[in-house]
Amino acid sequence: MVSADFSVNSGAVFTEAIGNDRLDLLTDYPFTRLSNLLAPITPRANVAPVVLTVGEPQHTPPAIIEETLRASASGWNKYPPVGGTPEFRAATGDWLNRRYDLPAGLLQADSSILPLSGTREALFMLALLAVPTQKAGRQPAVLMPNPFYAPYEGAAVMAGAEPVFLSATRETGFLPDLDALTPELLERTALFYLCTPANPQGAAATPAYLAKAIGLARQYGFVLAVDECYAEIWLDAPPAGALQVAAGLPYQDGKPWSNLLVFHSLSKRSSAAGLRSGFVAGDPALIGRFSRLRSYGCAGMPLPILAASTALWRDEAHVEENRAAYRAKFAAAEAELGGRYGYRRPAGGFFLWLEVGNGEEAAKRLWAEGAVRVLPGAYLSRSNPGEPNPGEAFIRVALVQDTDTVAQACASIVRILG
Ligand SMILES: Cc1ncc(COP(=O)(O)O)c(C=O)c1O
Repeated sequence: MVSADFSVNSGAVFTEAIGNDRLDLLTDYPFTRLSNLLAPITPRANVAPVVLTVGEPQHTPPAIIEETLRASASGWNKYPPVGGTPEFRAATGDWLNRRYDLPAGLLQADSSILPLSGTREALFMLALLAVPTQKAGRQPAVLMPNPFYAPYEGAAVMAGAEPVFLSATRETGFLPDLDALTPELLERTALFYLCTPANPQGAAATPAYLAKAIGLARQYGFVLAVDECYAEIWLDAPPAGALQVAAGLPYQDGKPWSNLLVFHSLSKRSSAAGLRSGFVAGDPALIGRFSRLRSYGCAGMPLPILAASTALWRDEAHVEENRAAYRAKFAAAEAELGGRYGYRRPAGGFFLWLEVGNGEEAAKRLWAEGAVRVLPGAYLSRSNPGEPNPGEAFIRVALVQDTDTVAQACASIVRILG
C-alpha cells in the first residue's frame, strides 16, 4: 500500500514517487506558491485584506445566467454532447462574425466551434491533440510567451514536449519576438500558444503580428493556439483577433482557418468564472480531431449552461457595462500610480504589470504592511539559461475588485513600495 501524504493547499505531493514523473518537472501552481510565500506573514491588524491575485472578476454576474439556468433546468439529467447544441454554435459563430467582421458564410459554426467547460481545460488538453511523438525526428517543442498562463507549460510538459519560453518584455513589445525564432526550432514546433491581449502585460498583437504567426504555423506545420480570453476587456479599441486576420490572408487549399485555433471565454467577458464556459473555434480538421479526443477525455458542457452561455454570447449590454467598469478602474489606478513602476496603459485585459525591483519581496511587504495580496511576476515566468527571469522584477495586480478598492490598493502600493 502506498502511504500518501498529500495536501492540495500546501502543494506537497506523495511521499513516494509514484505515477507520471513528468509532473515533477512542474513547479507548484502559481497560487499555491503564493500561499506558501505569504502563509508565515500576518498582515497588520485592522486592515481588511484586498485580494488582487486571481483573475476572477468580482462584478455581479449578469441576471441572464440565473434566468436561463432556471428556464432550462430540465437539461440537468442529460449527458450533453461534446459538440454542444446548434443554438450554442450559432450564437458563438454569430458573435465571432460580429466581433471580427468575418466575411459572411466563411465560418461554418457546426464544423468549426466546440464548447468548452472553461478554456483552461481545453488549452491543457490541446497539447495532447497537437504534440506528436516526434517532430522533425526530435522531441517536439511547444512555444509560449514568457511570462505565460501556467496551464500552457503544464500541457507541454505532460504531453512530452519541451516547453520553450519566449521572452515577452518591454523590449519586444511584451509579445514574443517572432523574428527571433530559428528554423531549427520552428521545424520541431508542434504547438505555439499566443495570448492576446496578453496575460499579464495586456499587450495586443497587431494584425501584422498575427499574420506572421499564422504564416509560420502553416509553413512549419504546427498548431497556432491564440488565447483571446481577454479580447472583450479592452480600453481604447477592440484588439484584432486571429480569425479576423486569417480571413484576410490567402487561404490554404481553399481553407481559411488552417493550423489555427482561437479560444474565447465567458469568465472575463461576462464576469462568470464559475459558469466554466468558453469555446474553441477554427480549423475544422483540428476541431474534428479535438472533438474525437474530447469524447474520450472531457465532460461536455451541461445543457443548462449551454443555454445560459448561448444567451450571454448574444448579449452585448452587460459586456459594455463591464468594459466601462474596467476603464474606471484603470483611470483610478493611473491616478494613484502616475508613471511609477513603468506603468503603461495596456491595450486590454485587467492587470497591472508593475516593475517593483523584486516581485516576491514586494508581494510580501504589500501583504504584511497593507494586507494587499498580489502575485510575484516570477511565478508566471521561467528563466532561460543565461537570461534573467523576465517576471522577476514585477508584480501582477488584478483589477477585479470595485473602483474604490482598486484606488485604495494602488495608494497602498505607492505608500509601501515608494
Ligand atoms: C490567459 C488566460 N487564458 C485562459 C484562462 C482560463 O479561463 P477560463 O478557464 O475561465 O475560461 C485564463 C484565466 O485566468 C487566462 O488568464
